[in-house]
Amino acid sequence: MSNSAIDQLVGDGSAPHAGAQSGDLSTSPLLEVKALQAGYGRSQVLFGVDLECPQSGAIALLGRNGAGKTTALKTLIGEILPTGGEIRFDGLVATREATERRVRRGMGYVPQEHSVFTSLTVRENLALGAISQDTADGIEMVLDFFPKLGARLDQTAGTLSGGERKMLAISRALLGKPKMLMLDEPTEGVWIGVIEEIAERLHRLAREMSIIIVEQHVELALRVADHAYVMDRGKIVLEGSSKDIRDDPRLIQYLAP
Ligand SMILES: Nc1ncnc2c1ncn2[C@@H]1O[C@H](COP(=O)(O)OP(=O)(O)OP(=O)(O)O)[C@@H](O)[C@H]1O
Ligand SMILES: [Mg+2]
Repeated sequence: MSNSAIDQLVGDGSAPHAGAQSGDLSTSPLLEVKALQAGYGRSQVLFGVDLECPQSGAIALLGRNGAGKTTALKTLIGEILPTGGEIRFDGLVATREATERRVRRGMGYVPQEHSVFTSLTVRENLALGAISQDTADGIEMVLDFFPKLGARLDQTAGTLSGGERKMLAISRALLGKPKMLMLDEPTEGVWIGVIEEIAERLHRLAREMSIIIVEQHVELALRVADHAYVMDRGKIVLEGSSKDIRDDPRLIQYLAP
């Protein structure tokens, strides 16, 4: 895929993103999360999460099952309203913003489950994602990015393989031209031969935009991301460059079931 095609997928082509409503943000983080608390009803899951995402590059969010990773992403996109703390995105407070507005302001989200409409075709799924650009152009660009989807355009998404579904979900999110893409387990249920292809694409995207990747494949996540956060019981317990985190003996301890 050419650089100009990536530029068209990820925004206005000027990286780092310029933060139109909010002055010069080229050096400040795109996302700043402070002391975030959230949960489900009376059951609190996040107990003061702090994290930052730069204007471009990927961060990994790691942690064992139930650590609160999905809950953190759901709170960032606004599916769950926090009970404490602050989310700042692209220079503006987003803590209580509606999901729709967050998406319009540049947050993209590929959930862990139900990330495509299984009864709609691949083409229809993509058309739903192409809110801010010409559908035909957008579809051409994502097919350049994930050519495997090209032969599947008129198939219903329910008939796709695990890897193709993830590619479709990522493509759909990209068609919304996000500044930041949050991916919850993008290689879950994906055949090993396709995992590398997805990782390579995410690595390429991260040069141009901000990515948060939640992954069980820790080695892959640390390869895609420059910086990593490790969660345990709703708190960030370890943070650092991916290289430092990879070498930290506490990583295994926090990931052990
Ligand atoms: N809808 C819900 N209602 C009540 N509790 C929930 C709900 N969803 C998740 N939880 C609880 O919140 C905690 C964190 O779950 P979460 O899905 O955020 O973890 P995770 O780190 O994404 O785990 P996994 O790696 O298994 O995806 C768990 O104890 C889980 O049981
Ligand atoms: Mg999860």
